[in-house]
Amino acid sequence: MRIHKVAVLAGDGIGKEVMPEGIRAVEAAARRFGIGIEWASFDWPSCDYYQAHGKMMPDDWKEQLAGFDALFFGAVGWPETVPDHISLWGSLLKFRRQFDQYINLRPVRLLPGVPCPLANKQPGDIDMVIVRENTEGEYSSVGGRMFEGTEREFVLQEAVFTRTGVDRALKFAFELAQKRPKKHLTSATKSNGISISMPYWDERVEAIGADYPEVRHDKYHIDILAARFVLSPERFDVVVASNLFGDILSDLGPACAGTIGIAPSANLNPERGFPSLFEPVHGSAPDIYGKNIANPIAMIWCGAMMLDFLGHREAHDAIVAAVERCLVDGPRTPDLGGTADTTAVGQAIAAMI
Ligand code: NAD
Ligand code: IPM
Ligand code: MN
Repeated sequence: MRIHKVAVLAGDGIGKEVMPEGIRAVEAAARRFGIGIEWASFDWPSCDYYQAHGKMMPDDWKEQLAGFDALFFGAVGWPETVPDHISLWGSLLKFRRQFDQYINLRPVRLLPGVPCPLANKQPGDIDMVIVRENTEGEYSSVGGRMFEGTEREFVLQEAVFTRTGVDRALKFAFELAQKRPKKHLTSATKSNGISISMPYWDERVEAIGADYPEVRHDKYHIDILAARFVLSPERFDVVVASNLFGDILSDLGPACAGTIGIAPSANLNPERGFPSLFEPVHGSAPDIYGKNIANPIAMIWCGAMMLDFLGHREAHDAIVAAVERCLVDGPRTPDLGGTADTTAVGQAIAAMI
């Protein structure tokens, strides 16, 4: 039996509360399907580590993590003690860039048993996958601040779109759309207002789309796309977007489908030259941390995506089926109108696996 080595990076806030439930679910599936997992836990990256060491991670973080098959990540951020741009650029965003995790895959589904905030939507009406470009675009960190503190002060931050970066994200999205029954791709754009990078993005959509004649594709400006997510989410299948647009859509989509507490994501290096990272879409939720009421389903679903990426589709399906069952007749956390705690939901799902 091949043993998969997984690094556990729980991070901050509710990352620490949902992580044990993610591990519990993966362990249950591993037992059922005879999969070997070797876990290694790290107390970094985290804002506690920052307070003790003045940095989010040790300098040799890359060497320490590069040999793992996957990174299982909770959430990072504790703005009370460390500014968010420091904690995130000192951790998650470094992983994405230096491990070249250029795809951020974020499935969004309205599942039976989940109250939908939109009128007249049935389970199945929302079933999309957001493919977010994950290493460049608006998150490129190119720019600076000049003449600080003077009247002439200015800040400049560039968005960088490389042909390699855009094309590989689009190709991934078209490939995915080709495999799904609806074979439909929507590209998020804003080429009316953002007059250089977005027309370029559109141009690459046409160029890459030409290789996928079976996939119907269309483009929406991000503003009306956001409105359509709320008004008619059933029209979307694969949605591909730049880093920032993808970030926004991947909170909006899950909110339309009931709660961000169940939304998973996979930060993929599809070539597998570096470990991929699996993390909930949500953050460290300081407002609910310490009460053990966070919904662990996003973390658990991430465990399913991780097992899928490691080659265990059947284990993925078993975890997702247990999540679906739990949402219908199992305990639920307060974000879904229930009174159960994080541990109870995690235990129920593990038992169903
Ligand atoms: P958040 O996702 O942490 O919380 C937003 C809201 O959703 C809060 O009201 C929270 O209670 C609720 N929520 C989130 N996850 C939940 C869950 N599992 N169950 C129930 N309710 C849940 O976003 P935020 O408040 O903007 O950010 C808080 C901190 O997390 C910041 O430091 C931010 O930078 C960081 N953050 C980290 C990540 C990450 O590590 N991937 C992602 C987003 C935000
Ligand atoms: C996410 C988060 C991150 C992002 C933050 C914490 C930097 O919101 O994973 O969606 O913007 O990518
Ligand atoms: Mn986000």
